[in-house]
Amino acid sequence: MNPNTKVTVATFRKRKAAGEKISMLTVYDAPTARICQAAGVDALLVGDSLAMTVLGYKNTLPLTMDEALHHAKAVRRGAPDAFVVFDMPFMSYQESDTEALHNAGRALKEAGADAVKLEGGAEVSPLIAKLVNAGIPVLAHLGCLPQHLMTSGVYRKAGKTPEDAERLLADARKVEAAGAFATVLECMPDEVGKMISENIGIPTIGIGAGPDCDGQVQVLNDLLGLYAEFTPKHARQYAQLGTLMNDAIAAYSNDVKTGKFK
Ligand code: KIV
Repeated sequence: MNPNTKVTVATFRKRKAAGEKISMLTVYDAPTARICQAAGVDALLVGDSLAMTVLGYKNTLPLTMDEALHHAKAVRRGAPDAFVVFDMPFMSYQESDTEALHNAGRALKEAGADAVKLEGGAEVSPLIAKLVNAGIPVLAHLGCLPQHLMTSGVYRKAGKTPEDAERLLADARKVEAAGAFATVLECMPDEVGKMISENIGIPTIGIGAGPDCDGQVQVLNDLLGLYAEFTPKHARQYAQLGTLMNDAIAAYSNDVKTGKFK
């Protein structure tokens, strides 16, 4: 691949400066990563949503480093030229900075990821600075924080009051100052997504944060209609592959049972 066309962290800033939107999609396996790379998706996120979409857990909390690495390696094999972000699993970076550095380093060294993502604002900014100083690019994640499910009790929309919106902006400025190359904004009013996007220098990648973010990320299984258990309001369905798969599998099974399968 021409190194000048490869997406890097520098591409993110350039795109924002040029007013060009960034597309990001979660991906968890090699064949799908290959399709996403060929389809021109700018960045692939090996999201911790892997826990629910593929591994059958109820939420993101049980996902381990080894499980996430296993899938990130597959994504890298399927999309050797793509910009791949590794989502740090719950408790892979909260316990100590030393452990966070070790685990983020594994994402780059073992899985070949280009960057890591972690949830939180001001409270994780010192850690973001340490990772960036060590040479590990960081995508921040603000707004609804699924890894905080046990303390919040529900997946809550963020930034609903003026104070909350101001706090989110302050968090965005902190992660930018710490060196994050971009930040995810999850589940907040459209006007808050717009306000943050207009007031920080790094790109915002929205998921349920309105059309004015500098880019958008979606969960692949929601986009393709493959995750029937729960469809968040912000999910956009571009296909119903779950129904197609069900029909194909049922037809096959029926053909075998009725002797029509030759
Ligand atoms: O893991 C994931 O799917 C995510 C998205 C919310 C961006 O982090």
